[in-house]
Amino acid sequence: MPRKPFIAGNWKMSLATNEASQLAMSIASTCSDLSDRDVLIAPSFTALHAVADAIKGSDIILAGQNVCWEEQGAYTGEISPAMLRDLGCTSVIIGHSERRTLFGETDQLVNKRLTGALAHGINPILCVGETLEEREQNITFEVLEKQMRIGLDKVDENSAHHIVIAYEPVWAIGTGKTASNEQAQEVHAFLRQLLAQIYKKGLAASIRILYGGSVKPENIDSLMVQPDIDGALVGGAALNAQSFERIVKFK
Ligand code: PGA
Repeated sequence: MPRKPFIAGNWKMSLATNEASQLAMSIASTCSDLSDRDVLIAPSFTALHAVADAIKGSDIILAGQNVCWEEQGAYTGEISPAMLRDLGCTSVIIGHSERRTLFGETDQLVNKRLTGALAHGINPILCVGETLEEREQNITFEVLEKQMRIGLDKVDENSAHHIVIAYEPVWAIGTGKTASNEQAQEVHAFLRQLLAQIYKKGLAASIRILYGGSVKPENIDSLMVQPDIDGALVGGAALNAQSFERIVKFK
């Protein structure tokens, strides 16, 4: 079965409630009834409520940008899967490189969040990616394998099928530098092979792998042509309704 394209917008720590709600309404009016692709937006936690209202009745998937593994309790500063569900989220970004590098999230913590999300019915987007230093040291594949194996630890076949992987080379995020189509495809093919080792080949063939890192209207078409690129996780360009629409409607 062909993999359904998946375009996700990561709004990061941008947009006040009213701005978020306006952007969500624009996206809902232009990108909502596309049955041949999935469209997701991940606003900041504070805007989730307003954005959920703005996209009501559309097919847009609402996601958190992180999640705790427990449903409730003494976890100051965290948001639980139940809280995300309560606001209409069905998905969550986990292990984004900004969480890893700026907030010290380890592969083990990423795994804890991921298994917690799955256990509580939220579909995770697991982000992996190497730094420039790691690429220059020729350890890209080792780094990715470690992130994937630990990130997916204790995730069985039944759960794995709810996961989306996002490959985001850290050196391409917010820098204007994109991995070339060939560089991205090479890594995506590697990740799919790895999934086939961890799970069965059939399951690996059905898991969507998104590319992220300076995705724009100008480069989306040639990225989407690559056989193992199934979509995009978009940061900067997701904050502009026209740019995001063009990316969603890649050719
Ligand atoms: P960017 O961010 O598109 O601004 O590079 C991507 C991301 O961090 O998910």
